[in-house]
Amino acid sequence: MISHDGALLESVVNKVWFLDATRSVVDVYNLGWKAYLEARETDERRRRRERANAEKKAGALMAQADKMRAKATKTVAAQNMARRAEKLISGLEEVRVADRVAKVRFPSPAPCGKTPLTATGLSKSYGSLEIFADVNVAVDRGSRVAILGLNGAGKTTLLRMLGGLLTPDTGEVHAGHGLRLGYYAQEHETLDVERTVLENMRAAAVEQSDTDLRKILGAFLFSGDDVNKPAGVLSGGEKTRLALSTLVCSGANVLLLDEPTNNLDPVSREQVLDAIANYPGAIVLVTHDPGAVLALKPDRAILLPDGDEDAWSDDLLELVELA
Ligand SMILES: Nc1ncnc2c1ncn2[C@@H]1O[C@H](COP(=O)(O)OP(=O)(O)OP(=O)(O)O)[C@@H](O)[C@H]1O
Ligand SMILES: [Mg+2]
Repeated sequence: MISHDGALLESVVNKVWFLDATRSVVDVYNLGWKAYLEARETDERRRRRERANAEKKAGALMAQADKMRAKATKTVAAQNMARRAEKLISGLEEVRVADRVAKVRFPSPAPCGKTPLTATGLSKSYGSLEIFADVNVAVDRGSRVAILGLNGAGKTTLLRMLGGLLTPDTGEVHAGHGLRLGYYAQEHETLDVERTVLENMRAAAVEQSDTDLRKILGAFLFSGDDVNKPAGVLSGGEKTRLALSTLVCSGANVLLLDEPTNNLDPVSREQVLDAIANYPGAIVLVTHDPGAVLALKPDRAILLPDGDEDAWSDDLLELVELA
């Protein structure tokens, strides 16, 4: 099982393979999740201690070797000593530095009118299957809307309509004064898989210099040659980070976010939650993650497939987990 969900792992696994990118090895722990976390912490502490000791010894040896080199009769001994110091250091396992964390942020919203996005009477059917009918949405400046519903209820369908990516069968979507939309797609279909990470950023932010774009990508943990990878080869979490970073320079004042915390490791997820909580523009959020709803502090919710828009109440939080 591969998962970022600690509670799920704790209840399922009794063995953990830790792929340590720093040391380029796989450590096998025959332990459950929580015991593994503790054991790994202990191992990392031990490695740090070993390194500190060896470095101290090697430093003393080198200092002594330097002194002895000055005397012609002792150059060989000095060389041996220096070699011993090098060996001490090279035999050490790499010590893990702190994991890098993406610094996720959202755009500074461009000014807009009181209600930047309105939709009235939206319906959609595929063949004889009606997904939803007569849905009305009004997104005020800075407002927070949660869209809830079970798998297949039509949440992505509705968001794609609001984003202008899908034409409704009936009804219409109306852009208010100054609307700038930012759309984060559940399946990342806004990314061009043939193009590189940097090219995707250029397409999203035409007026920015490559230096600025690389800086933003760096904050989202794409550095050096990473930016030249085609988007198609990226891991799930990397695609999420790239799609989120394309929003940063958009000036969007209404963000349509379709399950933006999927695929993310717990630390990166916290960053996204933080960005959601602090974004001053309007957000329409689809999620099955109760933490994301708490970060959003919704003022309204739309329940699909009914399409009724209600004032938010914390009772709905239970629905988020169900849905
Ligand atoms: N092009 C299509 N042709 C036929 N059916 C479609 C098409 N696109 C979507 N659907 C159907 O519409 C329904 C709603 O899909 P949608 O992706 O909006 O669900 P969702 O609420 O986002 O679900 P999830 O929680 O799984 O993301 C699903 O039953 C889906 O199979
Ligand atoms: Mg969906």
